Amino acid sequence: MGKTFKITLFIFVILATALFAVEVFSLPKVTPELKVGAQEYYNNECKACHRWGRKFAAPPMKENVAQYAEKPEEMVKYLIHPTPKHPDIWPAMEITPLTEDQAKMMTAWLLYILDNPEDPGRPK
Ligand code: HEC
Repeated sequence: MGKTFKITLFIFVILATALFAVEVFSLPKVTPELKVGAQEYYNNECKACHRWGRKFAAPPMKENVAQYAEKPEEMVKYLIHPTPKHPDIWPAMEITPLTEDQAKMMTAWLLYILDNPEDPGRPK
């Protein structure tokens, strides 16, 4: 391999890595502002059916979120486009689908609450 080719290849790899890094999934940081927004959204759009620790018109939110602890990206996808998950036990979740930003906000907050159940903002 010629030296120029090696350098070109090196630059190409760096650029490709940088581009890939931009695409990597990430959730917003749970700031006090995010908490306020997520709590309000939850009260308006989720609380009608979900309770944190027990079954209601839907499975307990704690268990729902725990399923996604290692794959938050899947939870974001689900909230943007809910599909039947347990058709033998539960009806499909009929909600106004979340936007990507809303889904990321709710996923970040609910995973935070899962890790910090003593948070005063934890849903009932
Ligand atoms: C109209 C009632 C209703 C509302 C409102 C509702 N859900 Fe649900 N949710 C359900 C039902 C029913 C299921 C079980 C669906 C299934 O198993 O297919 C569910 C399941 C879930 C799950 C678990 C899905 C899985 O993979 O097992 C998550 C996470 C969830 N809801 C989050 C939310 C969030 C966040 C909100 C508010 C933005 C919300 N839900 C609002 C009824 C509701």
